[in-house]
Amino acid sequence: MDWANLGFKYTKTDFRYISVWKDGEWDEGILTEDNRLSISEGSTAIHYGQQCFEGLKAYRTKSGDIQLFRPDENSKRLNDSCDRLLMPQISSDKFIDACKQVIKANERFVPPYGSNASLYLRPFVIGVGDNIGVKAAQEYIFCVFCVPVGAYFKGDISPVNFIVSDYDRAASKGTGSVKVGGNYACSFYPNKLAKDRGFADCIYLDPQTHSKIEEVGAANFYAITKENVFITPKSESILPSITKKSLIYIAQNHLNMKVEERDIFIDELSELKEAGACGTAAVITPIGMIEDEGKQYTFNGGEEAGEITKKLYKILTEIQFGDREAPEGWIFKA
Ligand code: PLP
Ligand code: COI
Repeated sequence: MDWANLGFKYTKTDFRYISVWKDGEWDEGILTEDNRLSISEGSTAIHYGQQCFEGLKAYRTKSGDIQLFRPDENSKRLNDSCDRLLMPQISSDKFIDACKQVIKANERFVPPYGSNASLYLRPFVIGVGDNIGVKAAQEYIFCVFCVPVGAYFKGDISPVNFIVSDYDRAASKGTGSVKVGGNYACSFYPNKLAKDRGFADCIYLDPQTHSKIEEVGAANFYAITKENVFITPKSESILPSITKKSLIYIAQNHLNMKVEERDIFIDELSELKEAGACGTAAVITPIGMIEDEGKQYTFNGGEEAGEITKKLYKILTEIQFGDREAPEGWIFKA
C-alpha cells in the first residue's frame, strides 16, 4: 500500500461484519469475505432511503497498538439516526464489538504510525426484506466495513476554498441532525457545481433564512474570531459532529479559549480571523476562502492555516494517534 497517498477512496479489505435483524432481534453477526450484499428488490433502503450510517477511525499508535476514537459517540448517533427512521437500536456493546472484530480481521490494512493515515470504519443499517408500502421494514442488516484512508480534502492542513450553495441539504425539522443517506444524495449536485468551479465543496446555509452558515459539505463549520473565541453554528439541521464536540473541549480545556455555539451569519465572515471544516473524514481542514454571491472572504491570508487552527489540529491528532494523554473515555483499545 502507498500509505502516504491513500486519499479517501474505496479499497476492498479482507473482512466485513454483518448482522441481521429478524423477528424482533439481532443475530450474533458474522465476518465475511464477500463484499456484496444480496437483498430483496423490495428493500426499503432502496426505495425510501430507510438507511443510516456512521464514520469513525482506528489509529495505529507509536507502540503498534490500534485505538478507536470515541466509538461510543458514534454508537449513540447511529441509534439516534435509527430512531428517526424507525429502525431497530443496536447496543453500544454490539456496535463496538463489531468495529473491533473488523479491525482485528483487517489488521494488515491499518496504516502504520507516522503515515498520518488511518483505518476508516463505515457502519451502516439498511431496511431490507419484501416490501412495497411506504412504511418501515420488518428486517434489517447492520454491517461494518473498513477502508484505509488518508486525506479527504488536500491533506495535512492545507487550506481549501468553498462556495456558498443556493441549495439546501436539510429542512429545519427534517433529517439534518441524523446521518441518513438522503442528506448526502441531495448534496451530490451542489457538490458537483462547486467542484466544476474549482471549489473543494460547498457551504450550506440555514434552510429558512439563507443567512446563517450550517455545514461545510460533509463536515461542521468552526471559526476563530478576532477576540480568539471559537465559534460554531447552533442549529437543529446540522449533524452533531463528534470532532466538533472534541474541538470544543480542546479549545476550552487545553487552549483556555471561550467557545460559543451560536448563529454565524454570512455577513460576519469578514470579521473572522480563521475558519475551518471539521469531521472524521475532514479531520480539521482550514478554509482559505469562502465565496458567496461573487464576494470573496479570505481567512488568515488564504494560503496557510491560522495559529489556533494549527494548535487544535496538533492536539486533536496527537490524542487520536496516542501521542498525548486523552481526556477520560475518549480512547478505546481495538
Ligand atoms: N457534518 C456532516 C454532514 C457529516 O457527514 C459529518 C461526518 O460525519 C460531520 C459533519 C462531522 O461529524 P463527525 O465529526 O462526527 O465525523
Ligand atoms: C465522515 O466524516 O465520517 C463522513 O461521514 C463524511 C463523509 C465521508 C460522508
